[in-house]
Amino acid sequence: MSCKASAPGKIILFGEHAVVYGRPALAVPVAQVHADVEVSGSTRPGIWIDAPGIDLHAELKTLPSDHPLAAVVHNLFFILHIDPFPSINISIDSTIPVASGLGSGAAVSVALIRALSTYIGQPLPDEGVNELAFEIEKLHHGTPSGIDNTVITYARPVYYAKGRLLETFKAGIPFFIIIGDTGILAPTRVSVGDVRKLWEQDKDRWELVFNRVGEIVDRARTAIERGDLKGLGELMDQDHALLQEMTVSSPELDTLVMAARGSGALGAKLSGGGRGGNMIALALPETSGVVANALKRAGARRVIITKVE
Ligand code: PMV
Repeated sequence: MSCKASAPGKIILFGEHAVVYGRPALAVPVAQVHADVEVSGSTRPGIWIDAPGIDLHAELKTLPSDHPLAAVVHNLFFILHIDPFPSINISIDSTIPVASGLGSGAAVSVALIRALSTYIGQPLPDEGVNELAFEIEKLHHGTPSGIDNTVITYARPVYYAKGRLLETFKAGIPFFIIIGDTGILAPTRVSVGDVRKLWEQDKDRWELVFNRVGEIVDRARTAIERGDLKGLGELMDQDHALLQEMTVSSPELDTLVMAARGSGALGAKLSGGGRGGNMIALALPETSGVVANALKRAGARRVIITKVE
C-alpha cells in the first residue's frame, strides 16, 4: 500500500516580518511549484527517508531529533499514538527551491503529515495538519508567524494575523504576479533574528514601522478586492521601502525590483524573509511577459508568472 500527498509553494504579497509582531499579512499559494511525498510499506525494517533534492537518504534513527523531517514523523506518531513505528519508505520530491521565500519547508511538512497520517489510517483534518506544520516551522525559523504553514495547508489566498480567525480574499479582477528569484539562499531565521535585534533596541520606532506595514496590508486587501491594480502596485512599492528600512532587502533584490518597475510593472517588492530569495512584481496580463524578460535580463535565476483570481 502507498499514500501520496502534495502541497503547493506560496508567496507573501504583503506584510512579511511585521506579521511576526501580530500585524496582518497577505499570501497566496503558488501551484507551479510543489512538494510531493509518497509513503509506502516496506519489508526492510525502519523508516527510510529518501529526499534526493536535499541529498538525504537516511533511516530515521540516524537523524538528529530536531531535524525537521524526523520531527514531523516523531510528532505525528506521538499525537496518533503509533508505537511501535511501522516499516516504511518515505520519498520526498520537491520543485520548490529551498531558502528562497517560496515555503519549501512548510510545503514538505504539510505533504508529509498528510501522506503519513493517511497511510496510518488516521488522516488529519486541515486544522491538525496546520498545527503540526506550525510546530515544525519553529524548528526551521525560530519564531515563525504561522503564515507559511497556513497558506500552504489551506491552499488558498489568506489574510493572516496571529491568533485571529483565518480569512480568505478574492481578487475583484484577476492579476498576475511575476516572481523573480535572486538565486541567493537566505535563511529566514537570520533575517527574522536581525529584525528582532532592531526591535529590541528601539521598540517604539519599530512598532510604528510595523503599524505602517499593517495599514498597507489592509489597504492592499481592499485594493485587491476592488480590482484597483494601480493602487495595489503603489502599496507594493511602499511596503518594499519599509522592508528596506528593516534592512532585509539586498542589492540583488533591489536590482530586480528596479528592473520590474522600469519595464512597466505596476509595483514591486521583495517577498518573504528577504536578503536574497524572491521578489514579486505586479503586472497587467499584456505586460507580464515584458516584466518577466526584464527580470531575466537583470539577473533573475528563475521567473514564475502566477495568476491570482
Ligand atoms: O522566507 P519565508 O517565505 O519563509 O517568509 C517568512 C516570512 C516572515 O514574515 C519573514 C517570517 C514569518 O514567520 O512570518
